[in-house]
Amino acid sequence: MTVSNPLQTLGNQHLGDLQADQSFYLDADRLVRRLRLGSRVVESSVKVHPGDERTAQLDPLGVWWTAYLEGQLPSPAEVTDRLSVADLFCGSGGLALGTRLLAAEMGLSLVNEVIVDSDADATATLAANHDVRVRRTESVTSLVDFRVRGSGHNAEFTYRPELLDDQVATAAQRADMLTAGPPCQGHSNLNNRSRRSDMRNHLMLTVPAFAVAAGIERIVIENVPAVVHDDASVIATTKALLASAGYRVTDGVLASDKLGWPQTRRRYFMVACLNAEPTPLDTVASCLADEKPRTLEWALSHLDNWPIDDTDPMDQPTEHNQENQRRIDWLFDNNEYDLALSERPECHKDGTSYTSVYGRMRPDEPAPTITTGFTTPGRGRFVHPTNRRTLTPREAALIQGFPLDYRFITESGSSPSRTQLAKWIGDAVPMPLGYAAALSALAATSI
Ligand SMILES: C[S@@+](CC[C@H](N)C(=O)[O-])C[C@H]1O[C@@H](n2cnc3c(N)ncnc32)[C@H](O)[C@@H]1O
Repeated sequence: MTVSNPLQTLGNQHLGDLQADQSFYLDADRLVRRLRLGSRVVESSVKVHPGDERTAQLDPLGVWWTAYLEGQLPSPAEVTDRLSVADLFCGSGGLALGTRLLAAEMGLSLVNEVIVDSDADATATLAANHDVRVRRTESVTSLVDFRVRGSGHNAEFTYRPELLDDQVATAAQRADMLTAGPPCQGHSNLNNRSRRSDMRNHLMLTVPAFAVAAGIERIVIENVPAVVHDDASVIATTKALLASAGYRVTDGVLASDKLGWPQTRRRYFMVACLNAEPTPLDTVASCLADEKPRTLEWALSHLDNWPIDDTDPMDQPTEHNQENQRRIDWLFDNNEYDLALSERPECHKDGTSYTSVYGRMRPDEPAPTITTGFTTPGRGRFVHPTNRRTLTPREAALIQGFPLDYRFITESGSSPSRTQLAKWIGDAVPMPLGYAAALSALAATSI
């Protein structure tokens, strides 16, 4: 391939321990992304819309992500291998999206060997969009037998964890990487002494147990940033369990907007590799850093040519009660982004609640964190920047990094409810965060 018109290199090139960076160039009608992963260099490309070459020069990462959101996966120079993944607490597949994009760029054909979640419709959605071999709708706790002695830095498995389901075990043993986003509610719920002392109650610990039982070489665990303050020291316990099984671990908090994505969401990640050092997350973040995050307006512009279907729950705005609609109208009538104290419910009028609640989103900034409350003005700054309503599920999904054609379905084939969509979309890991964490696991190790 002839190299023409080198564009930008993003990320800090001058870190002493740099193991990865990215650069872009145009080759005829294709935009090429060049990822340097330690000693390994991978190139892949996407087709640029005719006439968009200038935009690609000014904002190559934006054009790269536009191609992705429009459903185009990058073509690598060659597909060299397969990446087999096991995904626990998989939800509707947010975390899986980052892995999928990175795998495509690295020339790895991705297979989801096994996915597990207690929500059948979420796993049906993931399976409708990804190549899934074994799908399990049940608690992860019923799939792995383990026991932990001690907690924090002294924790260890009292015997080697074992997978209890033969089909899951066979699939998991094929996996090169385990990804998992255990729910966080367990952390504060362990308030009775005997439950707290039995660390098996902690869903997070099923992840190292599952990985050790199946001998999976790379692990990516995602959680809320506050998990590091967990009363039961679950992070220290997880690290100790992994270290005692031979894994090396890196962890930290990644922020989507620092990677250039139009949302400020932050998530905690732990990455572990057997017999290899995962690339430190702050190194990955520096290498992928983009100082000027894209805006909410940029994200929503991808819907300009998308056929909105008023009968599809993905496109249906929530109908608000009179009071909330009056508050939304007030923001527009007064050209404001924060609701005045006088317009708030009585219990908010002392001014101690968050100003962002009932707020209108600013078009020229990244979106705030999309939570499961994005359809409700009283649960955050979720009023659309230019329309008198909160975000639709499709708009929220886009801001989370779901491609436009991502199919949200239920097991029976009917449309998901608004509540289901809000949960799946609000719970999801934004694509660039999963991408960065997967890069930490894959940069240092060859498949
Ligand atoms: C934070 S969400 C995961 C989001 C997902 N990683 C994504 O990016 O889309 C946590 C998920 O764990 C599931 N879950 C909760 N308890 C579970 C259990 N005991 N076993 C399996 N799944 C469980 C929930 O249904 C939910 O989908």
